Amino acid sequence: MRPPMSGTPHRFLEACRQRPVDRTPVWMMRQAGRYQPSYRAVREKVSFLELCRSPELIAKVTAAPIDEFGFDAAILFSDILVHLPAMGLELSFEKGEKGKGDGGPKIANPVRTRADVEALRVPDPTKDLPYVLDGIRAINAALAGRVPLIGFVGGPFTVASYAVEGGSQGFTRLKTMLYADPAAAHALFEKLTRAAIVQIEEQVAAGAHAAQVFESWLGELAREDLEEFSFPYLARIAAAVRRTNVPSVLFSTGTTAHLERMAQLGYDVLSVDWRIPIAEARARAGGAAVQGNYDSTLLLGPRDVAVKRAVDLVRAAGPRPGYIFNLGHGIQVGTPTENVKAVVEAVQAFTWK
Ligand code: CP3
Repeated sequence: MRPPMSGTPHRFLEACRQRPVDRTPVWMMRQAGRYQPSYRAVREKVSFLELCRSPELIAKVTAAPIDEFGFDAAILFSDILVHLPAMGLELSFEKGEKGKGDGGPKIANPVRTRADVEALRVPDPTKDLPYVLDGIRAINAALAGRVPLIGFVGGPFTVASYAVEGGSQGFTRLKTMLYADPAAAHALFEKLTRAAIVQIEEQVAAGAHAAQVFESWLGELAREDLEEFSFPYLARIAAAVRRTNVPSVLFSTGTTAHLERMAQLGYDVLSVDWRIPIAEARARAGGAAVQGNYDSTLLLGPRDVAVKRAVDLVRAAGPRPGYIFNLGHGIQVGTPTENVKAVVEAVQAFTWK
């Protein structure tokens, strides 16, 4: 079961609930990854999927950025696609091009027809993904209550984009399915929604203290398609997280035109990208807390600029409870660890006095 957090409620979870905190909580999407020498050392010995399937390595890689940088939350090391093999899809991660280091996902038998959708199985996480749940227990043992652990799943549209396109190959096939065979598209989103809900429920039962839905590519859809093919499913996932009593976070990019509407989906926190001033995001997010929205490219630049822009962001977010410092999207490969350290320290040192 979920071990209690040590001491008083943790500032990340408090900020999710829009309660006052001693200082701004900070974590970074993809905080465990190839920009870290310690992660690259693990990956020299095992493939990405082998890493995702080893509870011991999951715990080691998840805890490393907490030890190295002092982030205020840990995020389960896994992937939004790990359940696809259990659903019947042959998933692999290709070795990156030399120098680029980008190992993209590939699906050998992508979903193209209604029969393909019907053949998909909703996974049973305790049977199909025990290493994720054992990983969560191992992470909490390693963290010993120092920081909360964020569990996560992929959003239905984002997972569908990989399942239908067969990899990171755009959105044309999936979007065409919405228009040409809406019933097949709904059946696909229905299965992916059920898969997301059972994974979150089991992750929380195993010890996750919050749940983030990565709906990274939602900004690809027009408003009417969001209303028909995405928002009802995202609202069901939010309601399922609410029943587990942990805070929920919805992450997406390119969607700030729809913030007011997204605030009605039932998430405690909306994670926004850098395409909107943070004060405007907070004003428009309705009753939700806001997470974001530092441009991860700043971390590749001069350290003084990166630090100044981080402090500017915290100041612009304002003193009202309910703000979590994070990036607008994941940390990029090649980010100097010194820059991450300096930005975390600057955010944690900021006070309103
Ligand atoms: O944030 C974290 O530290 C937790 C771990 C995490 C990973 N992937 C590890 C990973 C999380 C939360 C994800 C989510 C994920 N996976 C998303 C949504 C977030 C986003 O970035 O938009 C998506 C779209 C995926 C699918 C995926 N996994 C892609 C497209 C790729 C290849 C691109 C890339 O960055 O390498 C992956 C691989 C992946 N997932 C890596 C990591 C650390 C790199 C694998 C390696 O070690 O080579």
